[in-house]
Amino acid sequence: MSPRLRVLSGIQPTADSFHLGNYLGAVRQWVTLQDTHDAFYCVVDLHAITVPQDPALLTRRTRVAAAQLLGAGLDPARCTLFVQSHVPKSAREGQEQASVGLFTYPILQAADILLYQADQVPVGEDQRQHLELSRTLAQRFNHRYGQTFVPPQPYILAEVAKIYDLQDPTAKMSKSSSSPQGIVDVLDTPDVIRRKIARAVTDTGSEVRADAEAKPGVTNLLRIYSALSGEPVATLEAKYEGTGYGAFKKDLAELVVASFAPIREKTERILADEAGLDRILADGAARAHRVAGQTMAAVRERIGLLPLRDR
Ligand code: TYM
Repeated sequence: MSPRLRVLSGIQPTADSFHLGNYLGAVRQWVTLQDTHDAFYCVVDLHAITVPQDPALLTRRTRVAAAQLLGAGLDPARCTLFVQSHVPKSAREGQEQASVGLFTYPILQAADILLYQADQVPVGEDQRQHLELSRTLAQRFNHRYGQTFVPPQPYILAEVAKIYDLQDPTAKMSKSSSSPQGIVDVLDTPDVIRRKIARAVTDTGSEVRADAEAKPGVTNLLRIYSALSGEPVATLEAKYEGTGYGAFKKDLAELVVASFAPIREKTERILADEAGLDRILADGAARAHRVAGQTMAAVRERIGLLPLRDR
């Protein structure tokens, strides 16, 4: 049997919850890929601190992020889940961690990807350019020092690569969006989800039909519905022919509620056992550290850095 390809991806702990865009664009694929790939996933706290964060909030959100990933279906028996800052980027255990100031954001991301020798990186469309840089750096290093890094490929599913804001369907759904009404959070309560979807901006006319140019709002909702239900967009268009937007949005709201309720409940259960969560993350960090250590040892050797002997 040929060894599994490796995937690695990360998510920032910069909000109280992941949103529907994070979930459909990335996290759902992470769950699926656990069964076919050697999977590494991290909560990228060092990326978060490239802009100022409240320290207590950052700690809390890092745990909530990890718990949500487990709530969404990551299984520590089938993947390695860890916190980015738990794995030093410099080679040697106990050595001072390279400060984030040394890395600009995309270089830090390339370091994550290359350190773990990821073949594929499951992300949304907004991350594509960061992956290009990672590939370029891998190829340059390999060219100069011999085959060392795997040049990573993006793993981006076209239908869910960019989920749009419910209040502004021309803008990406994003944590930094101007209106919270435009973002559906995975941890939102059912009533909040229903309200946000009921108020989602739709387009003139009343036809439930995908047309990215003329009907961006309805098209976005159709894509979300299709991704969550598994029904093709054309099937949904036929199902809602002549019903208007109301019935369509109501069903979509119930679908999102049903999809997120189990994740929210499991996330809460996991957060109730903080010590257990921290143990999962410590175990993940140890696994990640082994892989990163091998890569860094190879890098040092190729470059010709004199190894530091144990005293
Ligand atoms: P972050 O935390 O902004 O987003 C996490 C993942 O969610 C995807 N995403 C979306 N997908 C579809 N539609 C949307 N509206 C949407 N919004 C967000 C993102 O594409 C991402 O996959 N720099 C990264 C984190 C990172 C990383 C890495 C990723 C750090 N190191 C190494 C991969 C590999 C980020 O800020 O993602």
